Amino acid sequence: MVAQRIKDIPPSLTIKLTDRVRELRRKGMDVLSFTIGEPDFPTPPHVVEAAIEALREGKTKYAPSRGIPPLREAISRLYQERGLDFTEKNILITTAKFALYAALQSLVDPGEEVILPDPCWVSYEPMVMMASGRAVKVRLDPLEEFSFLPEKLKEAVNSRTRILILNTPANPTGGVLRREHLKLIADLAVDHDFYVVADETYEKIVYEGEHISIATLPGMEERTITVSSFSKSYSMPGWRVGWVAAPEEHINDILRVQQHTLTCLPPFVQAGALAALEGPQDYLNEMVKAFRRRRDKVVEGLNNMPGVTLRPPHGTFYAFFHYDQPVPSMDLTETLIEKARVALTPGIAFGEGGEGFMRFSFAVSDEKIEEGLRRMRTFFEDNF
Ligand SMILES: Cc1ncc(COP(=O)(O)O)c(C=O)c1O
Repeated sequence: MVAQRIKDIPPSLTIKLTDRVRELRRKGMDVLSFTIGEPDFPTPPHVVEAAIEALREGKTKYAPSRGIPPLREAISRLYQERGLDFTEKNILITTAKFALYAALQSLVDPGEEVILPDPCWVSYEPMVMMASGRAVKVRLDPLEEFSFLPEKLKEAVNSRTRILILNTPANPTGGVLRREHLKLIADLAVDHDFYVVADETYEKIVYEGEHISIATLPGMEERTITVSSFSKSYSMPGWRVGWVAAPEEHINDILRVQQHTLTCLPPFVQAGALAALEGPQDYLNEMVKAFRRRRDKVVEGLNNMPGVTLRPPHGTFYAFFHYDQPVPSMDLTETLIEKARVALTPGIAFGEGGEGFMRFSFAVSDEKIEEGLRRMRTFFEDNF
């Protein structure tokens, strides 16, 4: 017997797809995968060294549950630079994914509504379900950075709305929201008294425009829970380290969830994270430069295929392209694997609003991208 809360949670489509590609490769099929959600660059060496050094120094016991003070201080400075009145009391070190889960656990009562972008990252809805909340999906506008369609968003807000989850730069769309997009959300949040959980995991991977934290908009500092991560910015996904930045009372609520579940993040992992923030940033800049180069290659390559349209993603390492055929994205995924030996993530994995789109991750080498595009071009020319 499974608990009602968990019963309706579907298994992750993206993990299923990764397993399928692995299985086909084991059988000898040469499948190129563009489903990946992590940078292909190694973690910067000075970060690795800092963690090893910490291990050697015996930093192998429990760390403070909130996180080590110098790391919390360093992160609070990032927000001070953006004009927020934050100190280390406003920061909790945790895994970004867990932060989102814990924020929902600490804010949502059964039946309260959580507005989600559609399409959005695969884990938001299951997290809302685990908090016994009700997910309300709002369609995005592909022509406007995949921001919320204003009328649809206004219709979705009501007295049961507790939270809106915002993700910019966004997975899977690559959209980077501009101030006017954020202002619409902020005005609604203030007028209707709901919170914004701002997932800024990809904040450093921006090619055009700038990343703006919604917490910096008028009236939003006290009603925004900001989550970010070292995973994508510093190529540290396996380290499982990120943070929450929020008003102190919310940090304390999330801390209670952390104290009785994760306890803390490993101290040597936090030493590595501190080195990432405080050490040289050229590694990160080079990585973003490489992603930008690949992005341009993918934009050109995909737009030259018949029936394919891609508006250049302004951030992240995902190209979310539209295809002009009445074929479900799940079926197209299967056909692409079989006929083109290329694995992409179907748009439907991210919600109904993703149907008709496919996600191509360019966090893989230039050579693989070129070969993948070549295979796809042949496929689209023959079939579209
Ligand atoms: C939009 C988004 N939010 C959060 C996460 C989780 O980040 P982390 O792996 O650092 O917990 C991911 C990871 O893929 C993501 O794509």
